[in-house]
Amino acid sequence: MDILECIKTRRSVREFLDKDIAEGTIDEILGSARRAPSGLNNQPWRFAVVKNADVKNSLAEQTHYGDIIKNAPVCIVVFLDNTAVYDRTKDLMAVGACIENLLLCAHSLGIGAVWLGEILKNKEEVNKILGVADDIELMAVVALGYPASKVKGTERKPMSDLIIKRLR
Ligand SMILES: Cc1cc2nc3c(=O)[nH]c(=O)nc-3n(C[C@H](O)[C@H](O)[C@H](O)COP(=O)(O)O)c2cc1C
Repeated sequence: MDILECIKTRRSVREFLDKDIAEGTIDEILGSARRAPSGLNNQPWRFAVVKNADVKNSLAEQTHYGDIIKNAPVCIVVFLDNTAVYDRTKDLMAVGACIENLLLCAHSLGIGAVWLGEILKNKEEVNKILGVADDIELMAVVALGYPASKVKGTERKPMSDLIIKRLR
């Protein structure tokens, strides 16, 4: 899929088929995520891949959007490694770029995904469930699976609201 088409047609997918995602496909998605740019090329992102139903159920209890996690065949949990951080703002932006790469790669492979952030209210609990050290900070859970249905497009603000200055 052409990159522009991929960007334009990506949508958050919250309902998935009961169909596994092959390990090789997950590796490809993670491979694209780690290609994201980062300040000083410090690559501060870390990932946990969760297919285990018991673990997904425990994660699901930590967010209002738990049903999405329960029904997704795979969740990729994305962290910021605070031991690798050199500038928190820049490192957070790098992790955002990494997550967008992940979403776009998944979409290009026909896999639906949604970036779940509401779960961040229970960061510490998520680390406990996954047995992850305190300096590895939760950034998002991305739920992934083959889309169960076609997703409606979401609106975007008009460009005139977004460009605050255009100096020619
Ligand atoms: C930082 C962030 C946090 C988000 N958290 C959630 C969430 O907790 N639950 C959810 O259903 N969607 C979540 N989303 C997805 C947004 O709702 C979605 O991207 C937005 O409505 C635009 O829709 P689209 O992705 O289909 O274009 C989040 C997206 C971002 C970038």
